[in-house]
Amino acid sequence: MSKKRVLSGIQPTHDSFHLGNYLGALKQWVELQHDHDAFYCVVDLHALTIETDPKVLQKRILLSAAQLIAIGVDPSKCTLFIQSHVPAHNQLAWVLECITGFGEAGRMTQFKDKSQKGGTDRTNVGLFTYPILQAADILLYQADFVPVGEDQRQHIELTRDLGQRFNSKFNEIFNIPQPQIIKSLAKINDLQDPTAKMSKSASSMAGVIELLDSPEVTLKKFKSSVTDDGKEVKFDEKSKPGISNLLTIHSALSGKSIQDLEGEFSGKGYGDFKAAVAEVVISKLEPIGKRTKELMDDQGELIRILNKGAARANEVATATLKAVYSAIGLV
Ligand code: TYM
Repeated sequence: MSKKRVLSGIQPTHDSFHLGNYLGALKQWVELQHDHDAFYCVVDLHALTIETDPKVLQKRILLSAAQLIAIGVDPSKCTLFIQSHVPAHNQLAWVLECITGFGEAGRMTQFKDKSQKGGTDRTNVGLFTYPILQAADILLYQADFVPVGEDQRQHIELTRDLGQRFNSKFNEIFNIPQPQIIKSLAKINDLQDPTAKMSKSASSMAGVIELLDSPEVTLKKFKSSVTDDGKEVKFDEKSKPGISNLLTIHSALSGKSIQDLEGEFSGKGYGDFKAAVAEVVISKLEPIGKRTKELMDDQGELIRILNKGAARANEVATATLKAVYSAIGLV
C-alpha cells in the first residue's frame, strides 16, 4: 500500500523557531516522516508579507532549514525544500485566487488580526491572499494530512473548501487534506502571559522560548515565568493557566504523564517545578543549537540538500499544476 502524504510549512520570519512551533507542529513533522511520504517546506514567499532586510531574510531561510534538520527532519526520509524553489506554488495560487470569494478571504481571522494591528495603509495585499498561497502549498502535493498548531485550523478549512470547489467545478484533481492537530499541544502559551499563544510577534520575547536561546537565557525565562495563585502543581487550564502550560511543556518533552508529574511535584514549590521544566527543555534544545550551528558552517552542503528536495518537490507539483491548467481550459 502506498504511504499517506503529509505536507507542512513554516515561515522563516525570525532567527529562531520557538517552543510553540516545535511542540505544536515540528515534533509531529519528525514523527510522521518515518511512515508517511512527507513534504516539508520553508515558506519564504509567505514571509515576504513582513518587510525584512534581504540579507536578514536570506540568513533566516537557511537558518530555518538548518534548524529543521537539527531537530530531526531527515532529508533522506522526507522531501525538505524552500517554497520559492518550486514556481508551481505561485502558479496554482493564482488559479485558486480566481475561485476564492473576496468576503471569504476577508473572514480569515489571522488576516483580520494582523490587518487590524497594522491599519489599512500598512496592510499589504499579500497578507490578504496569504491563505490562498497556503492552500496551493498543500493541494499541489495531494496531501492527506497537514500537521499544524490550532492557529492554522481555519486556513486548512479554507484549503479544503477551495479543493472541493475546484473538484466540483472542473475535474477531480485534488485530494482533500485533513489538519492533523494534537489537541494537548495545539496551543503552547507565552510564559509571561499564559492565556496568549506563544508567538514570534509577541511584544516582548521574555515569555517566548526560542530554540536557539542559550541555556542561561532559557533558564532565566522559565524562572521568571508567570505562575498562578496557590502553591500546588496541578493541571487546571482555567484557574492555573501558567502551571498548566508548564506541565504541558514538561510532559511533551519528558514523556511523563501530567498525572505523574503532579505526583512528582506534590508538596514541592513552584520554584522547584520551574527549574525542573527548564532542565528538561534545555537538555532538548542544547543539541539542537549545536547542530544548527554546525549546519550553518557548511552552507554549501545545506544548499545541496535543499536543491535535491526542490527537484523532487518540483516533479510532484508540476504534475498537479499541469492537470489543473488542462482542467480549467488553458491551451
Ligand atoms: P508559522 O510559521 O506561524 O508556524 C509554524 C507552525 O507552528 C505552529 N505554532 C504553534 N503551535 C502550538 N502553539 C503555538 N504557540 C504555536 N505557534 C505556532 C503553527 O500552527 C504552525 O503549524 N501559515 C503557516 C505556514 C504555512 C503552512 C503552509 C503550514 C504556509 N504554508 C502549508 C502548513 C501547510 C504559518 O504561519 O505557520
